[in-house]
Amino acid sequence: MTSLTDLPIWDTLKAHQARMANEHMRDMFAQDAKRFERFSLEAAGLLLDYSKNRINTDTINTLCELALECQLPEKIAALLAGKPINITEKRAALHTALRRNPGDQVFYGGIDVMPQVQAELNKMEEMSDKIRAGLWYGYAGQPITDIVNIGIGGSDLGPLMASQALTPYSNKNLRFHFVSNVDGTSIKHTLDQVLPETTLFIISSKSFQTIETLTNANTAKRWFLQYASDTSRHFMAVTAHPERAQAFGIEEDSILRIWDWVGGRFSIWSAIGFPLVCSIGMHRFKEFLAGARAMDAHFASAPLTQNMPVLLGLIGVWYVNFFDSQTQAILPYNEYLKFFPRYLKQLDMESNGKTRDIEGGAVDYATGPIVWGEIGCNGQHAFHQLLHQGSHLTPADFIIPCQSQNPIHNHHAILFANCLSQSQALMLGKTEEEAYIELRDAGMNEFDARTLAKHKVIPGDKPSNTILFDKLTPERLGALLALYEHKAFVQGVIWGINSFDQMSVEFGKGLSQANLEALEEENHLLPPRDSSTRGLFAHYRGLLDQSTVEQQAPEDG
Ligand code: F6P
Repeated sequence: MTSLTDLPIWDTLKAHQARMANEHMRDMFAQDAKRFERFSLEAAGLLLDYSKNRINTDTINTLCELALECQLPEKIAALLAGKPINITEKRAALHTALRRNPGDQVFYGGIDVMPQVQAELNKMEEMSDKIRAGLWYGYAGQPITDIVNIGIGGSDLGPLMASQALTPYSNKNLRFHFVSNVDGTSIKHTLDQVLPETTLFIISSKSFQTIETLTNANTAKRWFLQYASDTSRHFMAVTAHPERAQAFGIEEDSILRIWDWVGGRFSIWSAIGFPLVCSIGMHRFKEFLAGARAMDAHFASAPLTQNMPVLLGLIGVWYVNFFDSQTQAILPYNEYLKFFPRYLKQLDMESNGKTRDIEGGAVDYATGPIVWGEIGCNGQHAFHQLLHQGSHLTPADFIIPCQSQNPIHNHHAILFANCLSQSQALMLGKTEEEAYIELRDAGMNEFDARTLAKHKVIPGDKPSNTILFDKLTPERLGALLALYEHKAFVQGVIWGINSFDQMSVEFGKGLSQANLEALEEENHLLPPRDSSTRGLFAHYRGLLDQSTVEQQAPEDG
């Protein structure tokens, strides 16, 4: 495989960047009154304004040439057709099958997967309808009121984020809790809020082997068994390993299936989304699926230069590889999307935080950026100073619905004005002369205005995308998530990496198991390890022993 940086088009892009680096976006806008029309597009109910980027038509065309060199159209077709593109795990990445039309056929390993997809949807509908109607009775004959999802990573972030995002559509008789971390505070805080007789625990784990999830699940079960012996109406599982769930004590009827061809970070569309289905109902969940399906159809058919996920992905490559940007900010101006940055962190960084290419070679170029973010306007009062006047080039995605789910006075107008103003300010910046004039107009004397103006210079030329849609509905959320899923895929194709495995996470899990065994050994023998780990163990031990001794010390007096 020819290295990406050896492709002639790569040198073309480097030369193009050298030219673009000297052009300021404020001049591009001044020279082209139609820039917005030229660099924006609509798809699946979303509007993407990518005009506030350091690009021109030549940039987009050249990036699309790079995409063709990387066989992006062929790779998109392979993804959607269920080819085993997850080469290290020899699997497909068929999360798009979960949102295909029921009548479609999608073959994987010679089998049409759609009947099993439909069967699980039907089972989810039947179970969730009972729960939502108050007809799922616990051991004391009372309806379920609290649903506790126990899962981590993609088995937590998807249902957590989407349930929060679609709060306006949630069943008001049900309360949802998400336990993910193994820190005892998480499960204890939740158990303090619920009653055993009215609580349903959903143990969500594709592998049903994740230590954090199993530890929390066992603690929940021990807690429940203090009150009742029949767990059948209070524990269910979502997993690709039903035999492990049954070994835990969950009945077959209470197990929802997912499959190995759905990656954890792409699993919200599957039974991992069951808490969301309980919250918004199957009808709305199918609208959610339909939104993603619309984005899939756009992704599959639109020309590269008019393809929303492709443009987002390529523009991201433009900054990572030709402007050396290290991070990507996600700034949703919407309270209900407060977990969206957290969700995207896993989706993007667990997909593209890699430096081995699909042939196992070391890459010699940058790959996945650090994805972070916060809702607006809050970010403005926390880190936008750095975005505007810091030393880093930090591309930002602004995301905002045009209508609020909670229209009160002019709140949404203020929110919307701030969102637009931030991307505008990032692009425009402020010259020293503009700052000086501003200060003089405000009545400051010549000397002070000249002095202070130097500190108010803002470089501008800071790139951003803005994604608008009418309202944060299930359909629009589905399209938005699919957009970012496909963006991550596009970037993985360009970087020649496998976006669907997560090798290094397994490494960390293995080390933590060995360290846990050492920590729990009574003989305090520290296994041979680096001096840092040994030193930290010893300190932890010392404090532990000290606290144990203190606990055993006789009461004073
Ligand atoms: O972080 C590694 C990972 O495997 C994620 O990809 C996954 O979403 C998470 O752990 C939880 O895995 P499981 O659903 O098997 O418990």
